[in-house]
Amino acid sequence: MKDFKIAPSILAADFARLGDEVKDVLDAGADIVHFDVMDNHYVPNLTIGPMVCKALRNYGITAPVDVHLMVEPVDDMIGMFADAGADYITFHPEASRHVDRSIQLIKQKGCKAGLVLNPATPIDSVRHVLPQLDMLLLMSVNPGFGGQKFIPYTLDKLREARRLIDEIEANSDASIRLEIDGGVTADNIYEIASAGADTFVAGSAIFGKEDYRTAIDNMRSELAR
Ligand code: DX5
Ligand code: ZN
Repeated sequence: MKDFKIAPSILAADFARLGDEVKDVLDAGADIVHFDVMDNHYVPNLTIGPMVCKALRNYGITAPVDVHLMVEPVDDMIGMFADAGADYITFHPEASRHVDRSIQLIKQKGCKAGLVLNPATPIDSVRHVLPQLDMLLLMSVNPGFGGQKFIPYTLDKLREARRLIDEIEANSDASIRLEIDGGVTADNIYEIASAGADTFVAGSAIFGKEDYRTAIDNMRSELAR
């Protein structure tokens, strides 16, 4: 079986008890903490910054943290999140004036670099920098809010991304995770995995459930189908 990873989005967690929520979801079997950063500028919502990432590290969270930057500009936040303990830092190419430079900056700071493509953004627009990435994240909703419905045409984009990534990996030592974000549930995760995703962000489908372990187990049994 493929190395599938489940990345709960803390956007759907109870922020009043965030440290415990993250501990609980990791104890329930999650692999990665997906950390949504919104600035009320690039997206019309406002969330959390590097201080909260650092606080989670200080609280004893050691799992990989996948920082999804929905901010503009991007570069100022890179060093701050690297210092705060981020593992992956991903950003939207529309939000950086010099995409290649931002990717290099993330790597220089010792983090894994990823790009995030909105539903309408073609994969072709970042084709030349793909080999430098550790992660390609495809949005399956418009960024800014949790709890939206999965946009079906994203499945075609996943298939296209999977083909390109396989080709790059076959011809180099690159290893690129293909992550999907938005509207992922136990009901559609099998189809999403079949289209090529290997890393699954899920907010409401995990934190919105009474029992996180059951929610994650249901996803994993679909992935094992
Ligand atoms: C949306 C965020 C997502 C969001 C996913 O801008 O990037 O990570 O929290 O939430 P669900 O899984 O509820 O669609
Ligand atoms: Zn996200």
